[in-house]
Order: sequence, then C-alpha cells, then structure tokens
Amino acid sequence: MQVSDAIEQRSSCRAFLDQPVERPTLERLMQLTCRAPSAINLQPWQFTVVMDAEVPRLSKKLLRAHTERGVGCKPDSQQTLPQVYLERQDALSVGMKPLLLEAGAEFANFINHGSLSFYGAPVVVVATLDRVFAQGRALDVGIALGWLLLAAQEMGLATCPIGLVCAYEDVIKDFLNIDPGRQVVLAVAVGYADEQSPVNRMRTERAKPSEVIRWY
Ligand SMILES: Cc1cc2nc3c(=O)[nH]c(=O)nc-3n(C[C@H](O)[C@H](O)[C@H](O)COP(=O)(O)O)c2cc1C
Repeated sequence: MQVSDAIEQRSSCRAFLDQPVERPTLERLMQLTCRAPSAINLQPWQFTVVMDAEVPRLSKKLLRAHTERGVGCKPDSQQTLPQVYLERQDALSVGMKPLLLEAGAEFANFINHGSLSFYGAPVVVVATLDRVFAQGRALDVGIALGWLLLAAQEMGLATCPIGLVCAYEDVIKDFLNIDPGRQVVLAVAVGYADEQSPVNRMRTERAKPSEVIRWY
C-alpha cells in the first residue's frame, strides 16, 4: 500500500470486531510508530499497549469515573469557538446521526461511552509525554501517533484516536501504573473494523484548501 492510499483510506473506526490482534503484529506496529521524527531525536514519548482482558477492565474504571464526573467529548477551548469551528464540529454529529439511528444509538451517549470503552477494540495504545519537556513536545508524540494510524491502515488494522481519556488521566495512570512524571497525551483504539456496523460508514469532509492553506 502506498502512503497516499493509507492517508486517503483511513478513517476513525467506532465499531471493532471482537478479534484479538497478534502480538507480532502489534510489535511491528509499535516499531514503525517509533520510527517517527522528533526534535533533536529526543523521542519524548512512551507508549503503553493495553491488551486482552486489561482493556475491558480499564474501560470499566473509565466508565465508572464518567458516571461520577460526567466529562464528555468537547473542544478544549474555554471560550466560545468561532463559527467556522462550530460548523466543522456540527458536521460530525450531523453526519453520524442517521448512521447511529440505524444502530439505535444517540450521538453524545454513543461518543462518550464508546470512547471510554474504546468502541470494543481489543487493543489500546496510551501515549504519554515526559513532563520534563515543554507542552510543545506533545507535537512529537502527535507525529508518532500519525505514523501509528497510517502503519495500522497498511497492516489492515482500524484505529480511533481517543482524546477523551485525557479528562480521566488520573484513572488511566493509576490503572496502568504510569510514571507520575508523565502526561497522557492521547489513547488510540486499535483492532479490526466491524465492516457491517453502520457507524463505520462515516466519512468526514475536509475544509476547502482555500480555507486552510495559504500560498505566499
Ligand atoms: C486528538 C484527537 C482526539 C480525538 N478524540 C476522539 C474521542 O475521544 N472520541 C472519538 O470518537 N473520536 C475522537 N477523535 C476522532 C475525531 O473525531 C476524527 O479524527 C475526526 O472527526 C475526523 O474523522 P476521521 O478520523 O474519520 O477522518 C479524535 C481525534 C484526534 C486527532
């Protein structure tokens, strides 16, 4: 598969098959992830690969915390977002609603509960950044996770980035025994897509090039 094909074909998977991913496949995936570039080759990341029965155990703890705290998916910004971003955000829920109706689910509930249960994925990769670094080094972790998404695509695996876990960082760090000196940047659900699920038909649009690209 060409990199451009992986880029064009990847989309976030929100229904996974109950099918494990073999350990050698995961090792290859993580090896490719760690080939990503980083500032001064610092490689400020660490990845915790959660597998087997540990995934539902972690989900259970996250869902319990969600019931207590009620924090769900929303933009990071504390201010009201400019219209352009609100429209892009709405497009996701508008696009997903009919597909969710087919699956008999409601958007916010589906996204929040689905995210914290990793949409049934058999594997979760939790990416952390050493706190000795400035927040800006999260960029390096993000690039590595981009590598992970594309490598997974080539390997026939589906993925979904799960930012919501950051709101429950304490739960995830405690469960996975992550060093207190590290910050959770993102989790990624990894597994095989349930191609029959209507939610996996969702394809998001992108802004027109003229809206996001400047030529100077
Ligand atoms: C940093 C980040 C955090 C995300 N967090 C979540 C999440 O918590 N739950 C979820 O369902 N999708 C999450 N997503 C997936 C986005 O909704 C998705 O990438 C976006 O709508 C574009 O769709 P696509 O990935 O199918 O191209 C996240 C994506 C990124 C990059």
